[in-house]
Amino acid sequence: MAYKVLSSLTANNVNSADLLKVKTDLLIIAVNKKTAAATELKGLQASPQSLVKESIKEINSGSRKSIFLPAPAKVGAKNILLIKEPDPKAASFLVLRYYEEIMGLVKSSKAKDFAYLMSSTTSKNFDDVWAAEVAARTFESSAYTFNATKNKTVKPITVKKGTLLFAGLTPAKLRSVRTAVKLGHAVGEGMNATKHLGDLPANHCTPRIIERKTKALKKDFPALKISSLNERDMEKLKMGSYLSVGKGSDEPSRMMTIEYKGGAKDKQPIVLVGKGITFDTGGISIKPSPAMDEMKWDMCGAASVFGIMQTLARLKAKVNVVGLLVCAENMPSARATKPGDVVTSMSGQTIEILNTDAEGRLVLCDALTYSKKFKPSHVIDMATLTGAVVVALGSPATGVMANNQLLADKILAAGEKSGDRAWQLPLWEEYAHCTKTNFADLANIGGGREAGTIHAASFLSNFTKDFKWAHMDIAASAWNGGAKKGGTGRPVPLLAELILNGNL
Ligand code: BES
Ligand code: MN
Ligand code: ZN
Repeated sequence: MAYKVLSSLTANNVNSADLLKVKTDLLIIAVNKKTAAATELKGLQASPQSLVKESIKEINSGSRKSIFLPAPAKVGAKNILLIKEPDPKAASFLVLRYYEEIMGLVKSSKAKDFAYLMSSTTSKNFDDVWAAEVAARTFESSAYTFNATKNKTVKPITVKKGTLLFAGLTPAKLRSVRTAVKLGHAVGEGMNATKHLGDLPANHCTPRIIERKTKALKKDFPALKISSLNERDMEKLKMGSYLSVGKGSDEPSRMMTIEYKGGAKDKQPIVLVGKGITFDTGGISIKPSPAMDEMKWDMCGAASVFGIMQTLARLKAKVNVVGLLVCAENMPSARATKPGDVVTSMSGQTIEILNTDAEGRLVLCDALTYSKKFKPSHVIDMATLTGAVVVALGSPATGVMANNQLLADKILAAGEKSGDRAWQLPLWEEYAHCTKTNFADLANIGGGREAGTIHAASFLSNFTKDFKWAHMDIAASAWNGGAKKGGTGRPVPLLAELILNGNL
């Protein structure tokens, strides 16, 4: 199963004469106030009645946002698309949206390939290298189309290749732009793998199916070392908290480990832990019916681990990373865990399960304890953990909480740089009271309507005392509702930036 859509994405330098010769189904030209005067566009605007020239004028006058043209005679391209670039001072999310929009137009044009003439004035804050990486990433990730459970309404993906064209780059700059395109392409590929797992319905994406797909990664990425734990293994490890979540389900729980060792032998790994609830009914504390289908995305933390590990392997990154996919299905049944039940976690701490819908923290706490065996430099978990983070931050930001401020700062910085943003919430001791109970060492809920996102993190912090740890609540950022309903592939871009350039 390949998750990469575009088989090739490359970058080239062009001048005015080259641009006339570029052989492509669709030549895309970014338009801003300087475009009409750009030397590389002289040829295309040559004749006095040039439609290209007229269209640039029209877009700059503000009357149209994009114009599709059949290419003039003697031009290598079959069609030309002119599109208005965001203002140079635009925030990064507008730049991302712009690249998404371009790929949307490429897809609907049915072009098999495209060439996009970049301009270096896209964003005041970012340069060609940044733009190349983000464009490559966004082109690949927006080329994603979900067809896996369609028979008669399949939307075939025609686009296979893309080229980013630049004018006047020095050879050194062209080299860094090419590296950035490769990087962005690999991040986009990881995002697509993440989206695909997330978008699969729960009957097509059980813990055992994720296990199978994870093991299958070995074929494309032999550098990955993959193993899995079944429920018997978990019993031996005394993961009583993790096991309590899958008890009501006919689908057995599985925890997969993906190890990637591209760095120095003695360098301690970063451990990524992903919540993988393949469906969250809430269990006996059952959820209301409206929008319950969205709980098929409750495995997006695990899916983002699945995605980022491919990205790292594709790039042959010089880092050591271990990914844990913590999978289970949360169902009600006669065998299900009941509110008030007390279980013993792998750490030895007992937990009173007051609400079976607060199941994410129950699987994660044992996986966090397990992660110690890798002697990690840092542990980061990704989880669609609380509805409260949807209320607090909404989809623009992933919620971050950490027991180490330097790690939190690096995560926030990686979010800004990648445009996959995060925002920190406090993890003060004042919040710790919520896990107190008369009947066990910890309760899995408490605090009523207050600070639900922090309370969940506070619970987890009882299992992360031995290492530097950050928790990312992706309940609002991992998928979109409404017309764009589907996985977003986040926080793969943030993780890629953090792991590759974050200096952890
Ligand atoms: N998977 C949900 C969190 C969630 C809810 C994500 C809605 C996205 C949208 C999680 O397992 C959950 O049910 N959390 C509860 C915790 C509560 C019982 C303390 C919640 O947020 O309501
Ligand atoms: Mn739940
Ligand atoms: Zn859940």
